[in-house]
Amino acid sequence: MPGGRMFEKQIQMVDLHRQYLRLKNDIDTAMQSVMDDCSFINGPQVKTFSRHLAEYLDVPSVIPCGNGTDALQIALMALGLKPGDEVIIPAFTYVAAAEVVALLGLTPVLVDVDSRTFNINPSLIEAAVSPKTKAIIVVHLFGQSCDMESIMSLADVHHLFVIEDNAQSVGATYTFPDGRTQKTGTIGHIGTTSFFPSKPLACYGDGGALITSDVQLAERIHQIANHGQVRKYHHKQIGCNSRLDTLQAAILDVKLRYLSEFTQARQLVASRYDEALSSCQDVLLPLKSSFSTHVYHQYTIQVEEKKRDLLQAYLKERGVPSMVYYPLPLQLQEAYRGIIRIGGSLQESDKLSRSVLSLPIHTEMTESEQRHITDSFAEAILAIARLS
Ligand SMILES: Cc1ncc(COP(=O)(O)O)c(C=O)c1O
Repeated sequence: MPGGRMFEKQIQMVDLHRQYLRLKNDIDTAMQSVMDDCSFINGPQVKTFSRHLAEYLDVPSVIPCGNGTDALQIALMALGLKPGDEVIIPAFTYVAAAEVVALLGLTPVLVDVDSRTFNINPSLIEAAVSPKTKAIIVVHLFGQSCDMESIMSLADVHHLFVIEDNAQSVGATYTFPDGRTQKTGTIGHIGTTSFFPSKPLACYGDGGALITSDVQLAERIHQIANHGQVRKYHHKQIGCNSRLDTLQAAILDVKLRYLSEFTQARQLVASRYDEALSSCQDVLLPLKSSFSTHVYHQYTIQVEEKKRDLLQAYLKERGVPSMVYYPLPLQLQEAYRGIIRIGGSLQESDKLSRSVLSLPIHTEMTESEQRHITDSFAEAILAIARLS
C-alpha cells in the first residue's frame, strides 16, 4: 500500500499528557498539599475522594483499594466464596476476573457475549448455572452497562451474588424497564472499579475501589483490604494489603470534578466516528444499548478477520494507532487451560477476538485530528477493497 500523509502531531490512543496540561494547576496544587503533609498512606484526601465518589454514584459508601484486580479479589473474599465454588464470567474480557477467581481456588465458568454490545449475553447464563455456581461477575465492557435487569432477576432465582466490574464504565447510567435509573457499579451486590491511568476515572498510577450498599458487606470489605484488621494488630479474617495511596486519591478528587465533562467529550468523539464511518463498507460500528448510556472507554469496530491486519498497518503508516482489545478470548488463554469450565458455545467471543479493532478516543481529541483518522480509515477501507 502507498505510504500516506501523517498528521502534524503524534496521535495517541489516549492522550494523558494533553489532559494533564489542561488540569495542571488543579492537579499540581492537590499533589503539593499531600507533599506538604507527607500523609502518603491513608491521608485525609483518601476519605474525601471516597466520600465524593459515593455522592456521585449515590451510594452510602465507597471503599478504596490498590487497583481494580484487587477490588475483584476482595469482593470474592468478602462474599465468603469457598474453593470449588463456581463463578460465571464473560469469555470476552480483560483477564482480571478469571485471574482472581482462579487465584482463590474457585472455578471460572465462561459464558459468551452479545456480538454487538460485547457484554455478557444474559440469555446464555442460566444454562451455565450448576449447583456449585455462587456468583456472576459481569463486566461493563468498553463503556456501557450489561443488561442488569435480566442479570439481577436470574441471580435472584438462582441465589447468586452479582459483582459488577465497572472499571471501563464509570459514569454510565443504566435505565431499568420501569424508568428508574442507577449508575453502573451500584446495582449488583458489589461493584468494583479500576483507576488505571487510561480508564474513564483515572489516577496517575494504580488505584481501585469497591462499592456496596450493604453495610455489613462494606465493613467486611474494609477489613479485608486492610489485612483483615478490626483494630490495629487484631486480625479477624485473612485479608490483604490493598490501599489507594493519598497522592492518587488527591488526583482522583480533581479528576472526579471533570468526569461529566470528560464523558461528554468522549461521547462527542464517538458521535463523530459514527457519522464519518457509517458509510464505510463491511465495517460494523459499536451498538449502543437502549438501556444504558455509553461513556466510550473504547470505540470498538468490527471488520472482517482477514482485513484487520491490513487495516491496522495502513492506519499505522498514516500515524493512526489502533488496538485489539482483546486478541484472545479466555477459553484460548494458556494459563486457564484445565481451570475453566465452558458454560456453552463461545463462538461470539471467539469471532470477536478476530474482528475487533479499537480506534483512538480521548478527552482532548480535536476535530482536525479526528478528521485525519476518519479520512485515513475511509481511504484504507477503499484500498483494501481494491486489493480483494
Ligand atoms: C474490565 C477490567 N477489569 C479489571 C481491570 C484491572 O484493573 P487494574 O489494572 O487496576 O488491576 C481492568 C484493567 O485493565 C479492566 O479493564
